[in-house]
This record gives sequence, C-alpha cells and structure tokens, in this order.
Amino acid sequence: MLVGQPGGSWGKPLLTLVGDPRIGTPEAFSSYEHTAGTMTRRYVNQLGDGESVEEIFLLADKQLRANRNASLYLLATLRDRTGMINGLMWNMTEASVAPFNPGDFVKVKGKVQLYQGALQIILTHIQPMPDNGIDPSDFHATTSKNVDQMLLRLREILLSISEPHIKLLMERFLADPDIMRDFALAPAGIKAHHAYHGGLLEHVVNILETAQRIEDLYPKVDFNLLRAGIFLHDLGKIREMSYATAFAYTDEGQLLGHLAIALEMLDAKIAEVTRISGEPFPNEIALRLKHMILSHHGAYEFGSPKLPMTPEAIALHHLDNLDAKVHEFARSIQDDPNAGSNWTPYSPRLDRKLYKGLSAGTS
Ligand SMILES: [Fe+2]
Ligand SMILES: [Fe+2]
Repeated sequence: MLVGQPGGSWGKPLLTLVGDPRIGTPEAFSSYEHTAGTMTRRYVNQLGDGESVEEIFLLADKQLRANRNASLYLLATLRDRTGMINGLMWNMTEASVAPFNPGDFVKVKGKVQLYQGALQIILTHIQPMPDNGIDPSDFHATTSKNVDQMLLRLREILLSISEPHIKLLMERFLADPDIMRDFALAPAGIKAHHAYHGGLLEHVVNILETAQRIEDLYPKVDFNLLRAGIFLHDLGKIREMSYATAFAYTDEGQLLGHLAIALEMLDAKIAEVTRISGEPFPNEIALRLKHMILSHHGAYEFGSPKLPMTPEAIALHHLDNLDAKVHEFARSIQDDPNAGSNWTPYSPRLDRKLYKGLSAGTS
C-alpha cells in the first residue's frame, strides 16, 4: 500500500509531528476498513473506444441537462483513482436521477465511445451502491509522494524562518492538529493541478523547495516572508473544498473562495500568537502576508482582488504558477487515454491541446 493511501498511513505523520491523539485515520475512511477482497476492475485509464463497461465508479458530479429537443439526459462525472470520464444517459427525469448523488458509489453499464477526441460512456444503467465492501483506495487518487516525508520537510523549511514573529506564527499552524490533518489530505484543485489527496501538501512543498534553490539569486526578496506566504497562499483550500469522498466546492468555498478563507485563518492565528506571546503582532508583517495571499493569482481575472505589489508577492505568484502549470501539463499528457494520438484533446481550461510527442502516437 502506498504511503498516504486511505487505510494506510494518513494521520501517522501528524501523530508524529504534533503529538495529538485525536488525529487518526480520517473519519471518512473508517467505514471502509472491512474492505472486501480485491476484484479486478477496469480503471478509467484502461478504457478504450467501443468497449462495453460494467463497473463501479465514484460519482463526482451529476447534472440533468436538456438536449435540443428539450428531452432530459444525465451527465455523470465518474471517477476512480486513475481519472475521470463522463457518462451520458438519455431520456432521464428528475425522479430517475434522484436515487444517487455526488459522493455516492454507482454501478454503471454502458459502452465507451470516442467523442470529439475524448472518451465517454453512453450509459444504459446506473444505480447507487452501498459503501461497504468497496475498497476506497480504488477511487481516490492519492499523491505518489511520501506524505510523512513531505510533512517533515514542510516543518523543517518553515522552522528555518529566522524572523521570530513569522516563525512563531508558523509554529502555531504546524501545532494545529485540525489544520494539519486537512492540509495533508486536501487536493490542490478539483480538476486542475494536483487534484488528488495530498496534492495541496505536494504543491506547497514543491514551491518551498523551488524557493530554497533560488534564494541566493534574489537578495532583495525577503525569503522569511516568502516561505510563510507559500505555506499560507492556498491554505484556504482546506475549507474551500470537501474531499472526504468526491471532490467538490463547499458552500463556504463557493461564497468566499480560498483567498478570503486563508485571510480569516491567518487573522485567527495572529490573534492566537498575540495572546500567547503577550505582545502585538507586527502590523507590517501581517499586511505583507495578507497581501501575498490576496494577490497570488496575479490578476483580477483570475480572482485576485489585488495585483502583486511587493517582491515577495510577485515571486510567490510566479513560483505558484510555475508549479501548477508544469504539473497540469505533465499530468494531462501522462493521463491522456488516447494512445493513438500525438496530441491530447483540446482543453477548454488551458485553451489549447498539448503535444505528447511523436512516440506517443506510434506506440
Ligand atoms: Fe490559489
Ligand atoms: Fe497554489
């Protein structure tokens, strides 16, 4: 079993790090401990055009849509640990899609079809399945990196901060068992980059490592602030999304977004530090940290209410973007199920298709 998989070592590194007995395997997985013996399943990344499918998937999303003739069809987003595929079922009603909801396991029957460069399943049957007897590790994509080691590295880098107020602030975050449990489990996104359990931690540690390597090249950047900003920038994602079963935006996430949520979390921890230390937290540092959180998307159209206006904020924006985009490109190429093409299908998110290389289409 991979480290960090549900039922595996989630929680263990946190026990080691923060010594809190409340932390254990996330409740979400506790009901799966009596998993049945493994049956061979067809994973999403093994499906091919024209194939008949009878398989259980995690329903990530369901939408009842109307076609041109105003008759309703189901668009189901089906996932397992290898990826997601759309399932379409014609002639549906409100009542016929009511028995299953996002987060449920569903058994489907249908036929795989290549449509506009991507595979989808035309469904003839869909029914909800009880959780027991289902191995959740088949359905939740998990970081391939070692969660324990990533948490240790995160701690090591953040505790190397030499400015005492920022260091104390980081210590209070690292000592918060609830925050750190969620931080180790959360994905960095739902569909974009690092969209798997542990993805947020992997993303943040990778940016911290990049910052470590460029520090001596940018003497005008305050790397104490930058390291803290890297840790904080996407911290709000632990409340912006739910990720116990299917990944989805929470109401708080939809209404506030992870920038505003992170700001609230930072304010709460600054209040805690002020209480513990008995002295006010320097306003200048607080403002610079908040500015990094609010501006890290780099542009108004990407959800930042402020453009980066400090060397640390612009550095954070570019380091964040570098890690997110390179990861998304590499993952899209790696996970593309269409072995016969040198190109991935057009991605509306990226507004382009990606070149997989000559060997991809001929292999
Ligand atoms: Fe972000
Ligand atoms: Fe990020």
